Amino acid sequence: MTHPLLRAERITRSFPAPYAGGNHTVLQDLNLTMEPQTSIAIMGPSGSGKTTLLHLLGALARPDSGTIWLQGTRIDDLGEPERAKIRRKELGFVFQEHALMPHLTALENVLLPTLGAPDLALSAEPRAEKMLQEAGLGERLHHRPDQLSAGQRQRVAVCRARINRPKLIVADEPTGALDRERARTLIGVLLDAQVSEDCGLIVATHDERVAARFDRVLDLVDGRLSERSSDAPGLDL
Ligand SMILES: Nc1ncnc2c1ncn2[C@@H]1O[C@H](COP(=O)(O)OP(=O)(O)O)[C@@H](O)[C@H]1O
Ligand SMILES: [Mg+2]
Repeated sequence: MTHPLLRAERITRSFPAPYAGGNHTVLQDLNLTMEPQTSIAIMGPSGSGKTTLLHLLGALARPDSGTIWLQGTRIDDLGEPERAKIRRKELGFVFQEHALMPHLTALENVLLPTLGAPDLALSAEPRAEKMLQEAGLGERLHHRPDQLSAGQRQRVAVCRARINRPKLIVADEPTGALDRERARTLIGVLLDAQVSEDCGLIVATHDERVAARFDRVLDLVDGRLSERSSDAPGLDL
């Protein structure tokens, strides 16, 4: 039997709201099913809960209630050591701020996730060099992040997200700090990565032009996702 890549059922997440009192519910009864090798854009204004959702789907945090499966394996009830293992083996992350290590070169940053995986480390260096070259960074392998432009740093971050051959790449507003042209290039690099790794790609964005290039566009509204489609706008999942 083949499982969906990702399945989230009745996810709820709230945070204490110290000034308003009580709790602020960010995600409520949220459902999502994502098939393997597909790309999804999650759209919503600032504060709508995109980052909160990606943290749950990327096993960085746990929901208050609800269930999340990654390839049929339940991840919402795992402790941090198990989630860390899943993140390292199955997931790749790209954040809005590139989150590269400042004292390491581009190549070393890409190789960082392989350090805990000796089986990968052997073949990782040529692979990292090839990915960086394909991302237009062949002349920048030994530059540190502060010697690279914002767009170049994000492309290094995409290579790092790919290095362990993830099943799913999770990117939180990866073009947030880029101008229109560089945003377009970076989304191309992410979509190429999805095809090369034959993996899923889920990206939070509030840029319509970015979202239009994905297989599916989901709006995060009032704590739930609704599918955008030309013939059934606002279809509830
Ligand atoms: N760790 C946290 N503690 C308290 N409130 C939080 C926390 N993380 C997010 N929130 C709140 O949850 C809401 C959604 O935030 P977020 O997921 O970052 O939205 P987005 O990424 O769409 O901008 C916001 O109101 C934010 O203040
Ligand atoms: Mg966010």
